[in-house]
Amino acid sequence: MRTESPVTVICGDSRKVKLPKFDAVVTSPPYVGLIDYHEQHRYAYELLGLPDKKDLEIGAASNGNSKKARADYVKGIGEAFANVRNNIKDNGVVVVVVHDKDKLFLDMASNIGFKTEEVLVRNVNRRTGRRGSDFFEQILIWRAA
Ligand SMILES: C[S@@+](CC[C@H](N)C(=O)[O-])C[C@H]1O[C@@H](n2cnc3c(N)ncnc32)[C@H](O)[C@@H]1O
Repeated sequence: MRTESPVTVICGDSRKVKLPKFDAVVTSPPYVGLIDYHEQHRYAYELLGLPDKKDLEIGAASNGNSKKARADYVKGIGEAFANVRNNIKDNGVVVVVVHDKDKLFLDMASNIGFKTEEVLVRNVNRRTGRRGSDFFEQILIWRAA
């Protein structure tokens, strides 16, 4: 929706970027070994003249899905959410949309200082292309504990 509210876009590494205090986060984080986002969106990076930061991508497909890649992913995503935890206001809420087939998010919230309030399961049945409708994703609702 169009809004008169001011919007600030910060292009940086979510593990380290300096964040203002905020009330909530809605995010669909990268997943391990699935997509190389800089490649997928190369046209946008080039059209907008954005710096190439592909080495900072968490869970990049080019790093695979090995045990080490999964451990690196959990560490990287954990650091990104720890940065969120340090800057979210008391009682703030985090909504994470993910297809966590490897159960990498099971202990994430409590390890970082969030309480899991709810886990919703969504059947993603309106996908484009000739794909089946048996794809489910989780919507994790975390509260700053
Ligand atoms: C599943 S996509 C979600 C994109 C976004 N929600 C949207 O709808 O456009 C995951 C995003 O995380 C970004 N990403 C990966 N590693 C990152 C990092 N270290 N810091 C910030 N963003 C990162 C990827 O480039 C990708 O754009």
